[in-house]
Amino acid sequence: MSETRTSNFPKTLPAFLSEGDPTTAKVYLAIARAASRLADELPLHTGMAGGVNPSGESQAKLDVFSNDLFADALLETGVVGEVASEEMEEPRRSNAPAEESLAVAMDPLDGSSNIVTNSPLGSIFGIWRGRLPQSGRRLVSAMFVTYGPQLTLCFSHGNRVCQFVKMRIGPQAGEFVLASEGMRLPDPPEVYGFGGERNKWTPRVEAFVRSLEERGLKLRYGGTFIGDYNQVLRRGGIFAYPELKGRPNGKLRILYESAPVSYLTELAGGASTTGRGSMLDITPTTLAETAPCYIGNRNLVREVEEQFARS
Ligand code: AHG
Ligand code: MN
Ligand code: MN
Repeated sequence: MSETRTSNFPKTLPAFLSEGDPTTAKVYLAIARAASRLADELPLHTGMAGGVNPSGESQAKLDVFSNDLFADALLETGVVGEVASEEMEEPRRSNAPAEESLAVAMDPLDGSSNIVTNSPLGSIFGIWRGRLPQSGRRLVSAMFVTYGPQLTLCFSHGNRVCQFVKMRIGPQAGEFVLASEGMRLPDPPEVYGFGGERNKWTPRVEAFVRSLEERGLKLRYGGTFIGDYNQVLRRGGIFAYPELKGRPNGKLRILYESAPVSYLTELAGGASTTGRGSMLDITPTTLAETAPCYIGNRNLVREVEEQFARS
């Protein structure tokens, strides 16, 4: 007698999410569908859009396309009342009352400078109740997408971190299927990636990186937060977009980039810091507020805080 075929195959995303919170499932499935379309359309939206985002960065056509794609998809779920984005001055809102709906903060396309080099790209989503800004401690869930050799979704499911991958051929073609569940940052740490120009690192950042190299950690830096962070999640280590001379608050936006990824990192056994305290404990005063970000191996993050406190 032939076995039931489905038992031999990994769970699909809809089947997996049917076991959890239905509201979060609607948000995750909307992101998954939009991310699939974005992955297919990456070659179609080349060049610059001509506008500037609230952080003063020139917008690529893909920044604008992905922003509208995800914002529409999220508001159409009927459970999201507000979408804030690094690409928009003001959030887009539905007429759902704040107390009955979710608020999503997103970086719809992370790594825009890497579009022309066909390097890894990402999308980052933080999901809160009510209205934004809020601290990362109040996150309900978080997800990031990687557009790399594989299209993957990494997200919180309860207090566990799961990864799904898009199948392109075979009996599950077109489905996101479970690749990893209950992800933990590996120990001992193997890699590090520190952003910004090296000659603008402050002396204490430079000293910390030197200590990592003396311990034999390998450099992995590609210029996309999510691509570089994924190295840390899978191999153990630390990523940073640090304080820089003349740029004490770094570059990564708390709401759109650092807090959602810090939330997942803590669920995966890691930690994050601004250099002074946990990224998750900050309540941004503006939607695009930035902070230095050091994220990954719990012991290394603690070392950053201890060394910075002494400097
Ligand atoms: P985004 O493309 O969403 O603006 O993000 C780019 C960020 C982040 O992905 C990356 O870590 C950092 O910018 C790279 O900055 P540098 O080019 O200054 O290294
Ligand atoms: Mn972006
Ligand atoms: Mn980004």
